[in-house]
Amino acid sequence: MTIEDYLQEVALRLDAAGLCYGHGTDNPSDEAFYLVYGFLGIDFADARAVHRVLDGEQLESLEAVLKRRIDERVPTAYLLGRAWFAGYEFHCDDRALVPRSPIAELILGEFQPLLRDRPSRVLDLCTGGGSIGIAMALQWPDCHIDLVDISADALELASKNIALHGLESRVNCIESDLFANVSGRYDLIVANPPYVPMQEFEDLPDEFGHEPSLGLLSADEGLQIPLQIMRDSVDHLRADGLLVMEVGYSNFQLAQRLQQVPLLWLDFEHGGEGVLALTGRQLQQYREQFN
Ligand SMILES: C[S@@+](CC[C@H](N)C(=O)[O-])C[C@H]1O[C@@H](n2cnc3c(N)ncnc32)[C@H](O)[C@@H]1O
Repeated sequence: MTIEDYLQEVALRLDAAGLCYGHGTDNPSDEAFYLVYGFLGIDFADARAVHRVLDGEQLESLEAVLKRRIDERVPTAYLLGRAWFAGYEFHCDDRALVPRSPIAELILGEFQPLLRDRPSRVLDLCTGGGSIGIAMALQWPDCHIDLVDISADALELASKNIALHGLESRVNCIESDLFANVSGRYDLIVANPPYVPMQEFEDLPDEFGHEPSLGLLSADEGLQIPLQIMRDSVDHLRADGLLVMEVGYSNFQLAQRLQQVPLLWLDFEHGGEGVLALTGRQLQQYREQFN
C-alpha cells in the first residue's frame, strides 16, 4: 500500500471514530497526515513521499499507533513524542499540554503593531513545555527569556526543549507559583495560563483527559489565574511593556467582569480567539478592577 492510499484510509477511519481535533489539527485528513508523516519521520513539506510503499513492519507499527489514537483518544503529539509550534519542533509528552496556542501567529508577526521595539527581556508565564518562550527566543536572537511554571515536571520538558534548540545561554527556567519567584521588570509578558472552569472541564472530550489538569483548570469561572496574572503583572512589567494573555472561551466572562477596562482582543488570520493585550500603563491604571 502507498502512503497516499494509507492516508486516505486513515482519514476515513479517524472521521468515523468521531475524534476531537483540538490538539494541532482540526480535521481528519490533516490529522492522518500529521500522524503518518510524523510517525515515519518524513518532512511535512515532502509531497512526493506519498508515492512510497509502506512495508509490513511500518504498517504494523502505524496500526498500533492509530489504535491508541482511536481507542484511547491519546493526542497524536503525545503518540509521536513531538509537536510543532510556530514552525518549530518540540519534544512533547504528558508533563505539559500539547502546544496549540494562536499566540504562535503573534510571535511570527513579532507582535506587530503592538510592540514598538524588539523586547530584550521577556517572560513566558505558565510555560508548560516551553514552546511559546522558545519560539520567541528563536524569533529574537538577542532576547533573554524566562520560562515560568509551577510544575517541576513541565519545566523538565521545557529544559529538554531549550537544549533541543541550543538556547541555554538565553532561556532560563524558573519554578514558581505565578510571580512568586520572579524578580525585575520585563518588556513583554506572554501567558497562556489555565482558564477552563470546572464545569466545562468535566465535559471536555477524552483527548483532554490525557493532559495535566493543572494546565487546564482555573477556579472562579476559569478567571482566578488570569485575573491574578493581570493584578501581579503590574509589578513585573515596564510601563511601556505589554502583557499578552490567552483566556480562550473564558473571554466573554472576563469581558463581563472587566467592563471598565479597555481590553484589546486580538484578531487571528489562521484561527483562534480569546487573546488579549494590555500595556503596563493600563494594568497600573485599572489595577483595582482585577481584585
Ligand atoms: C494552558 S498550559 C500552557 C502551556 C504552554 N504555555 C502552552 O501554551 O502550551 C498552562 C500551564 O500553566 C501551569 N500553571 C498552572 N498553575 C500555575 C501557577 N499557579 N503558576 C505557574 N504556572 C502554573 C501549568 O503547569 C501548565 O503548564
